[in-house]
Amino acid sequence: MNLSRAKENGVTFFWEQKETVRRNDPVFYNPRMQFNRDVSVAVVNAYFSSPFTVGLPLAGSGVRGLRMAKECARVEHISMNDHNPVFVTSVKQSIKENKFALKQFSLSSVDANEFLLASKGFDYVDIDPFGSPNQFLGAALSRTRRGGIVAVTATDTSALCGTYRDACKRKYWANPLHDEEMHEIGLRILVRKVQLLGAQFDKALTPVLSYTLDHYMRGFFRFETGKKKVDAILEQHQLYEKNGKQYGPIWTGPLKDAALIAKIDHPRTEFQFLKNELDVVGYYDTHTLASELKTGEPIKIDVLLAALKNKGFLASRTHFCLSAIKTTASRTVVEKIIRGNP
Ligand SMILES: C[S@@+](CC[C@H](N)C(=O)[O-])C[C@H]1O[C@@H](n2cnc3c(N)ncnc32)[C@H](O)[C@@H]1O
Repeated sequence: MNLSRAKENGVTFFWEQKETVRRNDPVFYNPRMQFNRDVSVAVVNAYFSSPFTVGLPLAGSGVRGLRMAKECARVEHISMNDHNPVFVTSVKQSIKENKFALKQFSLSSVDANEFLLASKGFDYVDIDPFGSPNQFLGAALSRTRRGGIVAVTATDTSALCGTYRDACKRKYWANPLHDEEMHEIGLRILVRKVQLLGAQFDKALTPVLSYTLDHYMRGFFRFETGKKKVDAILEQHQLYEKNGKQYGPIWTGPLKDAALIAKIDHPRTEFQFLKNELDVVGYYDTHTLASELKTGEPIKIDVLLAALKNKGFLASRTHFCLSAIKTTASRTVVEKIIRGNP
């Protein structure tokens, strides 16, 4: 097979270069997911203050693990796996090209669950599948070490965001919302599902960071044990009411550990919004409000934020929707401001 050499953030790796990325590409690499990898590197650097181990059961081209070897000073060992048959050979070549020490890595090419269950566990486990993470969550949760992080990506947003309501109920045990707030409610449904899987074994999973972007959802969960911690999480699973209907249940707790995320920086606009985002459930989209209230042009976001803050409410932009705001004010207050009636 002819693999092309490529670089991401100064790290060389090999992949089968194509115009369009497809899930059955022999060596899978999606350049559009660089932000996802940037954030993973940043989160582990901010989170781990002592040496840590990494387990990547669905490693694709291996670029995520290779970047961790270069960019994470405290990483001790990186175990990577992918069932694609050329995975081990191509990643060995990448390790050589980057002049990394081969002994810092373990490489295998088996089923992801087999890889996880045969291991002694890792401080950081990253589930990065095509579609739903469901089939790998059990093994991932059983092989993440106490005090570590399990990261979960879901790309089946059509289920989580309510295009396929029944699929969401089957796969994520919740009723999805399908309107301008669907990205946040979908993410909170995913967070709850991961937490429920941990809860049955007294494992408490608290989001260190969770976000939705570019047709995927992603959560980094701090992994702890203890009945009380689990009970405290379950208390924050609630239904979301909107226009007389109920959605969810969803995780209503914080989507991030603000103090930890404050240590991270990334130039992407959505990340700036995410970092400074008010951690309340739901948001108001200025475009939707303008059309519902028939006010013509949507109100300028900065004007709305200033008016809310003037009235003593907390308010911020949100990464979920670039034309929306989050606030502690009620919809009635927001409507009054929009109608020019403050
Ligand atoms: C979305 S890609 C991973 C991308 C990679 N983590 C990155 O950051 O570039 C998913 C990968 O999972 C692999 N895969 C899918 N199902 C698998 C399974 N059951 N066991 C092992 N690997 C699997 C595919 O070969 C593919 O490379």
